[in-house]
Amino acid sequence: MSTIAIFGAGAMGEAVIAGLTQAGGHDIVIVEPREERAAELVERYGVTSSDVAGAADADTVLLVVKPHDVAGLLGQLRHHLSSDALVISLAAGVTTDALEGGLADGQPVARVMPNTPALIGQGMAAVSPGRHATAEHVARAREVLGACGEVVEVPEKQQDAVTALSGSGPAYLFYVADALIEGGVLQGLPRETARDLAVQTLYGAAAMLKETGEHPAVLRERVSSPAGTTMAGLRELDLAGVRAALVSAVAAATERSRELGRG
Ligand SMILES: NC(=O)c1ccc[n+]([C@@H]2O[C@H](COP(=O)([O-])OP(=O)(O)OC[C@H]3O[C@@H](n4cnc5c(N)ncnc54)[C@H](OP(=O)(O)O)[C@@H]3O)[C@@H](O)[C@H]2O)c1
Repeated sequence: MSTIAIFGAGAMGEAVIAGLTQAGGHDIVIVEPREERAAELVERYGVTSSDVAGAADADTVLLVVKPHDVAGLLGQLRHHLSSDALVISLAAGVTTDALEGGLADGQPVARVMPNTPALIGQGMAAVSPGRHATAEHVARAREVLGACGEVVEVPEKQQDAVTALSGSGPAYLFYVADALIEGGVLQGLPRETARDLAVQTLYGAAAMLKETGEHPAVLRERVSSPAGTTMAGLRELDLAGVRAALVSAVAAATERSRELGRG
């Protein structure tokens, strides 16, 4: 049985702990400075709590702390890790160069961008291996993150675009859901009914995209009969530039992610 040490038991840390304990097959050690929070998760998931020395026996170490806490943590960790332990960071914007620079020479690392649906096991994570990570390390990172949803591998230079699309994407879709609810209420639907209709419509449309594997344009055409209601609605979205705005939103968020990375 492999040992996974998880540093940081905030919202994202708990999502990973929940996924991994459900999947089974791992000894899980958590390292969290807030004692009450650590005790709560020990009780809830049956994991073990430790200080930084708990990483010594770990095959895999997950860093789920805020980006500004990573450098200090690496300084403490480097003396406790076995040389072939894989260090996986979920901290936004922290590069594999920075991770490798804070650890012993040759330590394998991987950088991951997760998203919030990981909290309900429906996450989308993108993993980029560092210079010393082998195919086996990448497979291990994919298995660990796979406990919270889907995983893809991307070259690290694409992580800013990943951040802008799947990292920020849930917020764009919450925004769309909010607007659809407002649209329904404006037409006289009770707010609760409008919410139910909007949420299940987004959920069903996403499931259909995933299950059929069809291009979204094909699915859209199938529900847009000539001179029908859907065409009338889509025409308004085109006139308001919604398509262009979404493309620009991903571009602006990519640029912002680059800026934050430079800072
Ligand atoms: N939440 C998301 O949806 C999301 C999405 C994408 C990426 N991420 C990434 O996931 C990481 C964690 O996010 P989060 O929302 O879970 O943050 P969070 O709620 O602040 O959790 C981080 C936890 O780590 C603890 N911590 C700080 N220094 C530590 C150390 N040296 N050793 C062990 N634990 C330490 C913190 O304790 P204190 O409070 O006492 O400092 C806190 O409990 C971030 O880097 C973020 O960029 C999160």
